[in-house]
Amino acid sequence: VVVALLAGAALLAWLERERLVARVYLLTLESDARVRRLQIDRVVQALGLVPGQTVADIGAGTGVFSRALARAVGEEGTVYAVDVNAELLAHVARTAAAAGLRNLRTAQASEDDPRLPQPVDLVFLCDTFHHIPRRADYVRTLRRYLRPGGRIAVIDPPEDSRHLGALLVPSMRYRMTDLERWMAEAGFEPAVRHDFLDGFFFVVYACPSCPDPAG
Ligand SMILES: C[S@@+](CC[C@H](N)C(=O)[O-])C[C@H]1O[C@@H](n2cnc3c(N)ncnc32)[C@H](O)[C@@H]1O
Repeated sequence: VVVALLAGAALLAWLERERLVARVYLLTLESDARVRRLQIDRVVQALGLVPGQTVADIGAGTGVFSRALARAVGEEGTVYAVDVNAELLAHVARTAAAAGLRNLRTAQASEDDPRLPQPVDLVFLCDTFHHIPRRADYVRTLRRYLRPGGRIAVIDPPEDSRHLGALLVPSMRYRMTDLERWMAEAGFEPAVRHDFLDGFFFVVYACPSCPDPAG
């Protein structure tokens, strides 16, 4: 009976895992301390976006960056809040509507592909790249979704950080030298390295050799 109960509980938890994960993120991602630490306005300003541009916020979570990015690109621009978690995407859609952000859309990603509906000027990944399972392949996939002159911005904990996820799940750890190699293999080089975030690196990559996806 005990084994059956445990198996039932495990099955229920597995079936409900997306909702459980969403609950945890909803409770934690927009805490005052985290929002202060991530300096969202300063990060968005540092990205140098101009009105009318298109951005993919991959691993958008609760959409705390998506909303700021949507304001930065204005009504003529578009931001896709992209996530594997449908519960979080529903939350982002609700909060975007409540904030009157009609240029903020959601896109359901698979683990290996953000499945963007159109190419973008900027792919933005904050606190997310360590969740991606096959990172070298993923960067090559991202290249297909970039417009000419497109950039990839990565904010993530450095390899020596005490980030909880990386401490608990070894596969979430990667070295900066690995990231630079995966980027270089896909044609990207660091364009700007920002050092104002405490506990996170922030690098913007550009791809001078990327061809026009339409051509
Ligand atoms: C720590 S949260 C970061 C959320 C947001 N970027 C922020 O900084 O507030 C990581 C997010 O990545 C999402 N995620 C995990 N694996 C993913 C994947 N393969 N593709 C897209 N999103 C993913 C999770 O569902 C979660 O919303």
